[in-house]
Amino acid sequence: MIDATGRPQSVLVLGGSSEIAQAIVDLLVAARCRTVVLAGRPGPRLDEAVDRARAAGAQTVESVPFDATAVDGHVAFADSVFDRFGDIDLVIVAAGVLSHQPDDEEDPVLVADVLATNFTGPASAMLAVCRRLRRQGHGKFVVLSSVAGDRARRANFIYGSSKSGLDAFAQGLSSSLVGSGVGVLIVRPGFVVGRMTEGMTPAPFATTPDAVAKAVVRAIGSQALVIYVPPVLRWVFAAMRQLPEALWRRMPA
Ligand SMILES: NC(=O)c1ccc[n+]([C@@H]2O[C@H](COP(=O)([O-])OP(=O)(O)OC[C@H]3O[C@@H](n4cnc5c(N)ncnc54)[C@H](OP(=O)(O)O)[C@@H]3O)[C@@H](O)[C@H]2O)c1
Repeated sequence: MIDATGRPQSVLVLGGSSEIAQAIVDLLVAARCRTVVLAGRPGPRLDEAVDRARAAGAQTVESVPFDATAVDGHVAFADSVFDRFGDIDLVIVAAGVLSHQPDDEEDPVLVADVLATNFTGPASAMLAVCRRLRRQGHGKFVVLSSVAGDRARRANFIYGSSKSGLDAFAQGLSSSLVGSGVGVLIVRPGFVVGRMTEGMTPAPFATTPDAVAKAVVRAIGSQALVIYVPPVLRWVFAAMRQLPEALWRRMPA
């Protein structure tokens, strides 16, 4: 159960090896979150995330196999997690991929894979988990969206549109959950320096996994539906959305 000060005692991460999610888990565990369930594709990165959460001091840390694109298994996955671990206070939706758009544009199968990993798969998993959150009558989703979804750019409209879809889905889900005790926090980071963006030139207002984690943990107990990290990006992208198309399409890659 979320304690009297709004701090979660248990967390499920969809995309358990995500760098941003691991930074959030570190802070949650420091604030006495006891149960950490890291759902992801089995491998060394997931194992390292388990070791890190254990080293941070969580009482129970387990990894469970989860593939965002394996939608047929999502209901059974959600049921097995809740049946095994009991109440889950926080669900971090972190699975995602930033692919190489020029390659994707040449291959519709790659495009479908990005959309499935970033949007349709997480949407399916969220609904599967949501049945159980509704039943327990409390809990919160933290959805890692992106400013890339605010307005799709020529250079990354495939990733951007996947995040727009996920973001709109999360907004609608939030409305549908009013009165259920279950909430949604949508997080729109800008460029986060880390594994996903390795080798790329940081965009203006670039941030870090730790800064995203701090902002998320601050917002979890609030009524905020959407946060930007850093916050200035809310106003930057409010302006970007108003730019005439002729200017917008000249945005650099
Ligand atoms: N980094 C940024 O600049 C940035 C900015 C805005 C938003 N975001 C979003 O934040 C989230 C976390 O990103 P991050 O920076 O923490 O990057 P990351 O460390 O690369 O994390 C991405 C996660 O997605 C998982 N994943 C990929 N495909 C999957 C699948 N089919 N099924 C299950 N899990 C899958 C990866 O697992 P594996 O270890 O198995 O590959 C990894 O755990 C993503 O949704 C990303 O789009 C990132």
